[in-house]
Formats: sequence, structure tokens, C-alpha cells
Amino acid sequence: MKKAITTKHIAQLAGVSVGTVSHVLNGSAGVSEELQKRVHEIVRKLDYQPSQLARGLRRRSTDLLGVIIPDITNPYFPKLVRGIEDVAYKEGFRLVLCNTDNDPAKELSYFNDLRSFHPAGIIVIPSEGSTVGKDSSHRNFELMFVDRSPEWWAGDAVLANNEDGGHQVGRYLTRMGHKLISAISGPSHIETARDRMRGFQRALAEAKVKLPAKFIQEAPFNVEGGFAAAIRLLTMTPRPMAIFASSDTLAIGALAAVRALKLRCPEDVSIVGFDDLEFSELTEPSLTTVFQPGYHIGSLACQLLLDRVRGADHPTEKKILNTELRIRHSVRSLLPARKRSR
Ligand code: GUN
Repeated sequence: MKKAITTKHIAQLAGVSVGTVSHVLNGSAGVSEELQKRVHEIVRKLDYQPSQLARGLRRRSTDLLGVIIPDITNPYFPKLVRGIEDVAYKEGFRLVLCNTDNDPAKELSYFNDLRSFHPAGIIVIPSEGSTVGKDSSHRNFELMFVDRSPEWWAGDAVLANNEDGGHQVGRYLTRMGHKLISAISGPSHIETARDRMRGFQRALAEAKVKLPAKFIQEAPFNVEGGFAAAIRLLTMTPRPMAIFASSDTLAIGALAAVRALKLRCPEDVSIVGFDDLEFSELTEPSLTTVFQPGYHIGSLACQLLLDRVRGADHPTEKKILNTELRIRHSVRSLLPARKRSR
């Protein structure tokens, strides 16, 4: 391993004490201009970078933030992480990102690794069965949950209103006259997927529309999962005329399944997604979906966490941000023409 340049090297070359080098680097007063110039010249020549690790050990805290998420290749999460990073960067903090694959053991192992770096805080999207923060292991830094919050967690959290988003979809489809409605539910071990389905089923029950068990197909939050689940649904008799896909990647897989079966969206099957990813407006037809404020969730969570790092001790905050149905062209109205124009 290469040896790092330290303030000791700089002090030796400049013929001054380590203390003087620190004073120059920290911009404290009391060092002559000539000495300052000499130290800065050596710093530049050696391309010296102060060690965050050494600084962290002295202060028992670094300017690092840990971010633990399920999977950065899930296209919903980059926006959320970007929201965290933009706030962190502006405030002089840097991120370390870890993917858990929704595995609580991997999550805990990353959590413990991050703790050993003395972070200022850790932001976690917890997996089902998560144990991070269950004990006092976060006493030396701030901990924040985003997107999901275990029921035992009494600290800060920033979430989207997934249940209401699901409810908006159910209400919209039933108001468009749909009765043969189905769903691709996302993994039942993920809280956000369960919340969306709860709201969706509530809306269908309110409209007295039945949702047979076989019309709910579970799938991982990805395109392949959406494709396979939609093929299962669209080859059933009777065939559902609408699919609520609980993420946009699932909806894109469902659109591909519609094409593979030589059906048409929305003429034969209506499809609604959830997320409102950037490319969901560009599908053919453009996707009706639920917007969730991923970027805002990330930036707000980071702001609240950094407020805590700086000593804010107001009561615990659980922020639930609104979701909103974005109506585009992937749902067909089954209402009689007379009713539509009213
Ligand atoms: N969209 C796809 N996967 C997820 C997830 O885990 N959480 C949220 N909020 N949205 C998603």
C-alpha cells in the first residue's frame, strides 16, 4: 500500500512544527506570511490531502453519511439518492452508498461497517425484518429511515403516501367503468408494495368491484417480473381489462406482454403504473402512473438528518409526502359516451 503524506512530512520539509502546519491549514491567525507561503508551497508540491480518517478519529465523527438502500439498479432509487446527495454535498458532507438486496443480514453487516467509520449519520431504506436501529448502536450518530419505516421505529422517517397512491389508482379505474381489474402487486415482503395494494383494494371495495385472488399476481419490482405476471393475467379466462402494476418497471414489463400477446393497450387492456419514472412518459402509449416525490423524499430526509447532526432536538418527525395520479394514455374509458361528456 502507498504511504500517505502527513502533516509530519510537511512540517519536516518546511522546518516548522506540526502545530504550525495545522494552524496554516486551518487558516488560524498567528503564523507569519512567509511561513504560510512556505507551508502552502510544500502542500501543493506534495498534493497533500488531509486524512478524513485521522480527523474523524480525533473528533470521533467524520463528515461522512452512510446511505443504505435495497438496489441502485431499481430506477426509482437513484432519484432519492440524488436528493440526499445534493443536500449533503452543499453542506460539506459526503456519501457512502451500500446495496442490501432487501437482505436484513447484508443490511446489518453494512450498517456495522459504516459505524466503524464514525459517520455523522446513516440514512436507511430498511428491508423487511431489518434490525438496524433496534438497539442503541446508533447512539453516536443520527439515524433516519426513508421510503419504509419498521413499526417499532420511533425516530425520524420520510415516506411517500403509498396507500393513498394505490387508492387513487383503484378509484380512477373504477370511475372509468372498469370491472375486470387485476394487479401485479410487487413483493409482499416490501412495505411499500403492501401499502399500495391496501389502498387499491380499499378503493375497489368502496366501488363494489370484486378483485378475485387469482387477479393479484406477485412479482419482483422489475421488467421481467412485470412481463411474466402480465402473461399469466392476460391468458386467464375471463381476461382482465385493466392491470394496476405497482411500479413503473412492472408496468413496462406488462406493456411488453400486451405486445407479445398481440393485444393493444389501452383498447384491450388498460395499464397503470406507480413511480412516474422519467421514461414513463415516453412509453407507447404514455403511461398513466402515480408520481411519488423520490427526489424530495431524499433531500428532505438529508436536511432533517443534518439538522439533527447540528443539534436540533425537536420531537421525532415522521413526514409522509403526497403521491399523485398522473393521467396519460394507457387507460381506456369503458363509460358510455353519454356519461363521458358530462
Ligand atoms: N418502486 C419500485 N420499488 C420501490 C420501492 O421499493 N419503494 C418505492 N417507494 N418505490 C418503488
